[in-house]
Amino acid sequence: MLKNSLVLGLFAIATVGLVAVLQQATAGRIANAERAAQVRALSEILPPGSYDNQLLDHSIQLHDPLLLGSKSPQPAYIALKNGQPSAIILRATAPDGYSGAIQLLIGIQVDGRLAGVRVLNHRETPGLGDKIELAKSPWIHSFVGRSLQAPDESGWAVKKDRGEFDQFAGATITPRAVVKAVHKALQYFDAHKQQLFAAQVKSNG
Ligand SMILES: Cc1cc2nc3c(=O)[nH]c(=O)nc-3n(C[C@H](O)[C@H](O)[C@H](O)COP(=O)(O)O)c2cc1C
Repeated sequence: MLKNSLVLGLFAIATVGLVAVLQQATAGRIANAERAAQVRALSEILPPGSYDNQLLDHSIQLHDPLLLGSKSPQPAYIALKNGQPSAIILRATAPDGYSGAIQLLIGIQVDGRLAGVRVLNHRETPGLGDKIELAKSPWIHSFVGRSLQAPDESGWAVKKDRGEFDQFAGATITPRAVVKAVHKALQYFDAHKQQLFAAQVKSNG
């Protein structure tokens, strides 16, 4: 009886140990895969050759619920070329999508022009609101090259609201939310660009 209990006990300990080791190994693999996916997403936004640093190693935390849409601080990544800032990629949240928040990755060049925008996460309706995804439609490319000044304030809206950006047939709520969030992110950048790039120079040395 005692021997059986001992064997059972040892077996249980060995199993728990094995599960712990497997979990550790899997967590490492997941972290690596996540990092690779993040690097891919970031590198899609900036033109190749426009930076020469590891973006994930040059991150800062930004917090502005009003202009960036998130209650918690979010990472932003500074792109450098020959040691000089060339762009920033920040995360912004459009809180007012049709089905809730839409997470965005927004690349802004040092001169204030948009390098690119990508949707990281959303729950919009397939066939309607999901055209914000590059895989579904090229619409998200319509931000490239735009800035806070071009178009002007009134142009930063969908065409239905007399702005410059297309809406989707039968689905205006989603693109309206994304246009608004990108516009606000540009306002954030405009108000903080000196500090953003100065912080990076400081952390470099
Ligand atoms: C089931 C269902 C799902 C919808 N999903 C979306 C959506 O993901 N994004 C969106 O903008 N509108 C969506 N709509 C449409 C909105 O209710 C709304 O009518 C539309 O965005 C307004 O655009 P419009 O002014 O061009 O008609 C959906 C409607 C229904 C009935």
